[in-house]
Amino acid sequence: MHDTLLLFGATGDLAQRYLFPSLLRLLGDGLLPEDFRVRAMALSPHDTDKFRDILRPRLEQALPQASQDDINNLLRRIDYRSVDLRDPGSIADAVREFNGRHCVSYLSIPPGLYISTCEGLALGGALSAPHRLMLEKPIGSDSDSAAQILQSIGALIDEDRVFRIDHYLGKAAVQNLMALRFGNTLLEAVWNRNYIESVHIMVAESDGVDGRDSYYSRSGAMRDMVQSHILQLLCLVAMEPPASLEADRIRDEKVKVLRALRPLDARHAAKDSVRGRYTAGTINGQPAQAYQPPEGSEAETFVGVTAHIDNWRWAGVPFHLVTGKRLPERTTRIEVNLKPVTHWLFERPDRRHAQPNRLTFQLQPQENIQLGLMSSLAGPEWGALELQPLELELSVPTGLHRRIAYERLFLDAFNGNHALFVRDDEVRAAWAWIDSVTDAWKAADLPMQPYPAGSWGPDQAHLFLPAAIVADERSDDAL
Ligand code: BG6
Repeated sequence: MHDTLLLFGATGDLAQRYLFPSLLRLLGDGLLPEDFRVRAMALSPHDTDKFRDILRPRLEQALPQASQDDINNLLRRIDYRSVDLRDPGSIADAVREFNGRHCVSYLSIPPGLYISTCEGLALGGALSAPHRLMLEKPIGSDSDSAAQILQSIGALIDEDRVFRIDHYLGKAAVQNLMALRFGNTLLEAVWNRNYIESVHIMVAESDGVDGRDSYYSRSGAMRDMVQSHILQLLCLVAMEPPASLEADRIRDEKVKVLRALRPLDARHAAKDSVRGRYTAGTINGQPAQAYQPPEGSEAETFVGVTAHIDNWRWAGVPFHLVTGKRLPERTTRIEVNLKPVTHWLFERPDRRHAQPNRLTFQLQPQENIQLGLMSSLAGPEWGALELQPLELELSVPTGLHRRIAYERLFLDAFNGNHALFVRDDEVRAAWAWIDSVTDAWKAADLPMQPYPAGSWGPDQAHLFLPAAIVADERSDDAL
């Protein structure tokens, strides 16, 4: 197992909130090598003591139940070095001493610095075998910049030692999508255009852009969330069964889905997509400020877009993809709407009021699965059958020990398992489709629609949101 982490961006939000706490849990559980150590690097001119002083309260805050012994054990293994990521020489100097160890370099930095950082790592000998490289998303900001990063880094390290992160793939509930689809016969039988009317994939957040303005104003929801997490969820829902769980067999199937995505046509941009930006509003009774990116920024905080997968299984089935910040609640869900029954026998309700089956996978914050059925159990005991919608609900027991997604991803990268990481061709195919959407927006001059913080997005959003959300909203309005 690899034993040394070279962590770039160590003072950043991701590292402090998730990466170090994940290491703390892994260490506490005895899952890291005896002589595991971390060289933390960032631009700030701290020394090791100062860095540990900054990190300690962040660890205590992230994991209040962690013991001081475990925290001290982790902090002892970390030292800090200030590096200038635009200067490969400074990076090489900071990593050269680890050449005799098995290093994993982790880049939790803006993608614009990936190439110079990797050049520094290569210069310092940290990219040659057996060393490995973990890269945070996004890889670039469009096809061209992604291709440049992939190519430059590809010249310095082999693909089989690169681990590109999409932290959604490390979530237990996301992995469960594969388990549900391929570990049961029930779903596969209906999992196609003959039975499925539409699919909605939604990642809603109540948090705002908060403190990430400089990254977000250049990215926006489409590049931040759809290109990565939402397209990965789409792949897991739509892919063909892989021949085995070997990493490349899974990734082969995912990339086929991405390549089958129909580019968005500018003529359909206004019908098939919506983009918005939150204005001031209220969330859970608390006032929330508007998002005001710098002049000239095109960053949207809400996206709804309908994707079509042009293949045999999914021809004609719309996949509505939605994500937004400052929405009323944090929830990630996949809603699969089945077609109405072919011949309706019942008078009550009549055919128009029958509710087709709906399968909902809620992935966050709690995991559960709901199946909407029509049933006569709640109807009168005699006379004509009267059907009503019935919700079957399967909840995962609460209190289950859930690992932070990054724990799983660290372990897999240290152990060399690629299944939960994104391959280079997936990155290219995802950007190709995203570019088609952003190009169509530009060509059609798609307006940015305002929506108040705490609402479910701009007016047009209901065309993309899961049916259950729209129905709830309507019933709230009716009250
Ligand atoms: C990150 C995005 O990748 O995922 C953030 O950059 C977003 O904008 C976050 O808030 C959501 O992750 P999670 O795990 O909280 O759903």
